[in-house]
Amino acid sequence: MIQWAFVTGADRGVGLSLVKGLLEKGYHVFAGQYAGAEAGGELERLEELNEGRLKRVPLDISNAASVREALEAVAAATDRLDILINNGAILGDMQATIEDELDFEEMDQVFRVNALGALRISNGLIRPILKSGSKLIVNISSEAGSIGSCWRNAWYAYCMSKAALNMQSQLIHNQIAPKGGKVMVIHPGHVQTYMQGKLDTAGRLTPDESAGGILKLVEQRLDPGYTGEGLALIDYAGETLPW
Ligand SMILES: NC(=O)c1ccc[n+]([C@@H]2O[C@H](COP(=O)([O-])OP(=O)(O)OC[C@H]3O[C@@H](n4cnc5c(N)ncnc54)[C@H](OP(=O)(O)O)[C@@H]3O)[C@@H](O)[C@H]2O)c1
Repeated sequence: MIQWAFVTGADRGVGLSLVKGLLEKGYHVFAGQYAGAEAGGELERLEELNEGRLKRVPLDISNAASVREALEAVAAATDRLDILINNGAILGDMQATIEDELDFEEMDQVFRVNALGALRISNGLIRPILKSGSKLIVNISSEAGSIGSCWRNAWYAYCMSKAALNMQSQLIHNQIAPKGGKVMVIHPGHVQTYMQGKLDTAGRLTPDESAGGILKLVEQRLDPGYTGEGLALIDYAGETLPW
């Protein structure tokens, strides 16, 4: 039987590498495409190479109409979705502290994308997910969303939105675990991507290395012999981080 996966924010960075990795593992993949051509056309190239197994879906997860259209594209192809990876996110301001003027308009958008965007997609796809064999939702979070290990005095929107994503993951887990549903919340590591608007050369990992680690954890989670309990915030190498 065909195994289906959906990745949001798949134009570049970790999302693009997750799409590549899932295709290598034999999945049929819906790739949520936010940027379009300016991301370099990598998804278009992958689509050509993978003859029918990659479907690009225009998707702004902060926009209800865009999400609706993406859900229709999924429904036209399958009534089952094995893996959803909520990866799409934005950073917002990284400088302003409580003593500065905070940009609430921008924060609103960061929340709409990082916290509510992921929830909108999980909500819209929960039926096909629960009908599938794997029933897995992977939320790409961040150590920045960990309250227990918080050291920053800025990055308000990003940190708070990822903490909200963590809570959302636990709420979903509580509802779907009794039905065989699975949730993972993963910090991808410090990755060399363009999230800050320019290549973050300080990142320790390439997107492929991060995605490789994440997909290994996914494989372990889907192993019928998996013995882990409950939900934890883990990094790409499987280390547990404090909530
Ligand atoms: N890089 C790191 O060190 C790091 C650390 C911790 C956590 N993370 C998390 O890892 C994930 C991937 O980030 P990344 O580093 O690969 O950064 P990235 O390259 O900027 O990837 C984020 C993706 O989300 C897309 N996106 C932005 N707004 C969107 C929207 N409204 N709807 C749908 N997609 C949207 C981006 O499109 P555009 O490129 O067109 O904006 C991009 O394709 C994110 O959840 C991020 O928070 C990254």
